[in-house]
Amino acid sequence: MALFAKKSQKTAEFSVLPNHLGIIMDGNGRWAKKRGLPRTAGHKAGAEVFKKISKECENLGIKEVTFYAFSTENWKRPKEEVDTLMNLFHDFLLEAKADMEASGNIIVKFVGERNGISSELLELMDDAERETSKRNGTLINVAVNYGGRQEIVSAVNRLISQGKTEITEDDISRNVYTSPDCDLIIRPSGEERLSNFLLWQAAYSEFWYSDVLWPDFSEKDLHTALSEFEKRNRRFGG
Ligand code: FPP
Repeated sequence: MALFAKKSQKTAEFSVLPNHLGIIMDGNGRWAKKRGLPRTAGHKAGAEVFKKISKECENLGIKEVTFYAFSTENWKRPKEEVDTLMNLFHDFLLEAKADMEASGNIIVKFVGERNGISSELLELMDDAERETSKRNGTLINVAVNYGGRQEIVSAVNRLISQGKTEITEDDISRNVYTSPDCDLIIRPSGEERLSNFLLWQAAYSEFWYSDVLWPDFSEKDLHTALSEFEKRNRRFGG
């Protein structure tokens, strides 16, 4: 199957879409456990859903989507699980490289710290970013080795190294990895917390939670979240 099929007919219409959508892909382990499978099987199923939902965001015309794929804390998981996740990123990138044509207009960007990631994977990440950077479709940020606090600290350190002695909100907004505001954060699996995801960008985010486990998350669930977002009255503190 093509990685991201070419832009197809719009599958749904919304009067307002989030400019930047954040998705916490949670519940892979529980999904696998329910089926008597190893946790790694849940991550494999989750990776397929990541591709399906990316494609649907592109179909709908959402400008930017950030997927939480691996946090700075996830290194503490068993080696087999960490290796499986790294292999899934690797396979996704190889597939993307072999199938650039079919990936349509999607722009891929990896956000997070580079240390700890193998040089082979880093090279594939750089290739994918370079190859897709000239496109004008949906920007898919894949947060790998990412932590929201670490992102803010890294932005501040970059500003210090540029000689800044006083830092403004705009300075930090310009130096976080993604666009500075996230309009909607989706978290499946029944957990209702942010888990160090997009801390700066979430200042005025709407949240949408669901009990569905990520490997079962469908385009229909995405549409439900977007139609609820459409109805929210956003006041930005005013
Ligand atoms: C959290 O669920 C999920 C993760 C730590 C990994 C998410 C990664 C993927 C879905 C693969 C993405 C692949 C690509 C190619 C970007 P959990 O395992 O903590 O679930 P649990 O809370 O049920 O144990």
